[in-house]
Amino acid sequence: MSLCRMASLLLLGVLHLLPAAGPAAAADRARRPMLDVPYVPTDPEVVQAMLKLAEVKSGDRMYDLGCGDGRIVITAAKAYGARGTGIDLDPERIAEAKENAKQAGVQDRVNFLQADLLKADFSDADVVSLYLLPSVNLELRPQLWKQLRSGTRIVSHDFDMGPDWPPEKTVEVGGSTIYRWTITERQKQRARRK
Ligand SMILES: C[S@@+](CC[C@H](N)C(=O)[O-])C[C@H]1O[C@@H](n2cnc3c(N)ncnc32)[C@H](O)[C@@H]1O
Repeated sequence: MSLCRMASLLLLGVLHLLPAAGPAAAADRARRPMLDVPYVPTDPEVVQAMLKLAEVKSGDRMYDLGCGDGRIVITAAKAYGARGTGIDLDPERIAEAKENAKQAGVQDRVNFLQADLLKADFSDADVVSLYLLPSVNLELRPQLWKQLRSGTRIVSHDFDMGPDWPPEKTVEVGGSTIYRWTITERQKQRARRK
């Protein structure tokens, strides 16, 4: 990600936490869920690079946590024959993702759930993709360690997991950085002790 794009996502992250004024805004807030991350879609070339870095293959079960319009799992299903689940808190994104899956002809291999990613069960994943915020990645880490099997790959667009969980690989593409980790038995044992 260019510095400018990363700054925009971080700024949007701060701005969308500030309440807008007026009765219409209040009604809108009551209808819409409080998102932990604003919607910013990943560019198609970065999507391709994320799938490549994660070594997605036919039959893999992939989750995109905070899936937006579903583009990552839809591409994984269409280009690699993976099975995908997209999770997003925003019902508008879920409706878009379902429509996009239909358009791409992969609705039998992907599903989309309106849910909070921080409370979701993704324990059967072979691959997990993320495009969240640094603070949300940190909050998610214990869940990744606890739920995911040893050997599960994780890729994250632009944000890492903090200095004490360095990525095993990093790729730069189109001004974006992509990080990859693989869950190990040691991490799972440590998570079990906590
Ligand atoms: C930066 S966008 C990434 C979209 C997609 N993964 C992509 O890379 O194109 C983050 C997404 O996370 C969703 N989101 C934010 N907070 C969430 C939460 N607590 N649970 C599930 N989804 C959430 C937003 O609605 C948004 O679609």
